Amino acid sequence: MPIIEVDDLSKVFRLNQKEPGLRGAFKALFKPNYTDKVAVDHLSFSVDPGEIVGYIGVNGAGKSTTIKMLTGILAPSGGAVRVLGRDPHSQRVANARDIGVVFGQRTQLWWDLALIESLNLIAKIYEVEPARYKQLLDQFSETLELDELLKVPVRQMSLGQKMRAELAATLIHEPKVVYLDEPTIGLDVMVKERIREFIKQQNREKQTTVILTTHDLGDIEELCQRVIIIDAGKVIYDGPISTIKDRFGKYRTITFETGSASTAGLALPDGTELVANEPRKLVVRFDRTRTTASQVAGALMEQADVVDFSLAEPDLESIIKQIYSGALREEVAV
Ligand SMILES: Nc1ncnc2c1ncn2[C@@H]1O[C@H](COP(=O)(O)OP(=O)(O)OP(=O)(O)O)[C@@H](O)[C@H]1O
Ligand SMILES: [Mg+2]
Repeated sequence: MPIIEVDDLSKVFRLNQKEPGLRGAFKALFKPNYTDKVAVDHLSFSVDPGEIVGYIGVNGAGKSTTIKMLTGILAPSGGAVRVLGRDPHSQRVANARDIGVVFGQRTQLWWDLALIESLNLIAKIYEVEPARYKQLLDQFSETLELDELLKVPVRQMSLGQKMRAELAATLIHEPKVVYLDEPTIGLDVMVKERIREFIKQQNREKQTTVILTTHDLGDIEELCQRVIIIDAGKVIYDGPISTIKDRFGKYRTITFETGSASTAGLALPDGTELVANEPRKLVVRFDRTRTTASQVAGALMEQADVVDFSLAEPDLESIIKQIYSGALREEVAV
């Protein structure tokens, strides 16, 4: 049974186009000129309990708008959303108990309260059983390194500290579904690592279902088995990361370490390109629809004094870039 079901979901924002100046303001008031902005366009997908799904796409693709409909903040213009069998918008109160949401760009904590006071309040509101609360507080403090932050008011925290605090506050009532909209935006690598570890831990231990929006493909590679890519409000890919790499990672690179200081006049197989020729190092990129790694390695070993070589994994970042740019749009269309 899916935990989240999205069926033919759409969101259209109606904008009143105002012309500049006072005249424009009056005109907009009495003779409005509406235009419709389709932010989410007939989306359908479902998510099973315990999945961590990466929800990605270029700026303005409709990710946050989808999250807002999933959480019940926005009402859909068409189609339906079901989370744990409920309609998140009309059943917001019941829904709130089972979900957690983090918007990376803003905080939901009380600005002037010390973190521990915020957490205490949230635990009261959600009626977290006291012994359980203590247990979770200990665990969260350890994984998110909160010890020194518990007495600090949120307004004094750095971005990375705030995000760790935010995650603790969002998960302290142990929601079944968590929506994370850019939780690692602007954070340093160490904090990102902590946060990813925390998400993994919660998912592993409680089968927490996670929908994760991010522009950091490191988040995706570390956390998600499945990604949904949206473009102009529509799903253009829904499936495993490994399939993206297999299907769209047309190019691979092999790095060769050579014994001799320089290598000149190499004859390479068709579909192969020499991208670096340095003393003792050769980097070759090949189109795997036209040749194979063993052909390329074989050819190089015949002609150069190869000491070692390694084949790089297809690079998710460059594939996603191509998908975003539209170069693979035809191919990925689902
Ligand atoms: N309240 C609103 N009123 C009008 N238009 C909106 C509103 N919210 C979003 N939009 C428009 O809907 C489209 C989708 O926006 P959304 O915020 O969902 O994108 P996103 O995929 O989250 O982008 P980003 O990666 O920049 O966060 C955009 O064109 C945006 O301008
Ligand atoms: Mg967004």
